[in-house]
Amino acid sequence: MTQLIDDFQRVVRYVRISVTDRCDFRCVYCMSEEMTFLPRAQVLTLEELAMVARAFTELGVEKIRLTGGEPLVRRGIDELVANIGRLDGLKDFAMTTNGAGLVKYAPALRRGGLKRLNISIDSLDEERFRRLTRTGDLRKVIDGIHAAQDAGFDRIKLNAVVLKGRNDDEVLDLVEFARSEGVDISFIEEMPLGDVSDHSRGETYCSSDDVQAIIESRHALLPTTESTLGPSRYFRMADSTSRIGFISPHSHNFCSTCNRVRVTVEGRLLLCLGNEHSVDLRETLRRHPGDIDALKSRIIAAMPLKPERHHFSTDGDVQVVRFMNMTGG
Ligand code: GTP
Ligand code: 5AD
Ligand code: SF4
Repeated sequence: MTQLIDDFQRVVRYVRISVTDRCDFRCVYCMSEEMTFLPRAQVLTLEELAMVARAFTELGVEKIRLTGGEPLVRRGIDELVANIGRLDGLKDFAMTTNGAGLVKYAPALRRGGLKRLNISIDSLDEERFRRLTRTGDLRKVIDGIHAAQDAGFDRIKLNAVVLKGRNDDEVLDLVEFARSEGVDISFIEEMPLGDVSDHSRGETYCSSDDVQAIIESRHALLPTTESTLGPSRYFRMADSTSRIGFISPHSHNFCSTCNRVRVTVEGRLLLCLGNEHSVDLRETLRRHPGDIDALKSRIIAAMPLKPERHHFSTDGDVQVVRFMNMTGG
């Protein structure tokens, strides 16, 4: 089988597909308060999204993650999940969600073949949660986590973006919450995508090493070599099944082992989260409807565009104008 290999001999086995730019939350690090969303004609249809997923699995991709915006606000998401869940060659099929729609959708997603869920939760305090997400309801998210557990997902992971002065005092509480729920948790360094206006990124930057030190004040962390093919470095605690992950694009750059590309909701194949090199798959999809070989050729031809690394910095400059909700991280 043809494999996707870039100019740095990295093999692409993981694709993140953004299924919508819309979201029912407005997290302060992800979006501006006033966002305009894409007109429907610019957004890939569910059929086009399924075809993109199929093309990648036929090119050796083993892991697909659906992201957004918020994937669960896309009408027909359960149908799309079932269509992708049927593809041969897929070993891991996951979604990153804000969790608010899981009470409604968790059973259907599981039945459709979705294996894992990552659920964002940055605070356990209702008011603060509301301030960080601007519109989110913490209770709904916690109910969503429980619905996901009841639906029998393989592994549930929580994601927390840590911002200095905003939620860094909750790191230990979030660890306790993950332990008590029997789920994993990853702590993420904020990345400068889009001018979010809420805060200067330079002021809120909190390194994974600082977060790790807070956790180690209470728990011994044992390094593991476990991997989900994603960017997290995982640790275990002696007395819990929960794993603690750190996603550290600034302090522990992981680009040399990058195995990922992304497809935006407009069908742009983005070769790296941290810059704008991209190829227009929508044009191929619409010019050659149903032609999987044309789509695969376009994807193969894009591989040399994958850059060696991102050039994010923590000084508060916005280096990528695209907002995170266009690509889902
Ligand atoms: P697992 O499959 O559980 O390992 O998930 P994941 O970490 O690959 O995906 P998730 O959607 O939970 O993303 C968590 C964070 O990692 C988000 O903030 C993403 O933006 C970030 N992330 C994922 N891949 C990359 C990458 O290639 N580069 C950078 N800079 N960040 C990434
Ligand atoms: N930096 C780091 N992580 C971010 N996310 C959204 N915006 C940012 C950002 N600027 C996270 C979300 C979600 C995941 C897809 O990306 O919290 O967990
Ligand atoms: Fe929505 Fe996720 Fe962005 Fe928050 S981080 S606004 S939940 S897409």
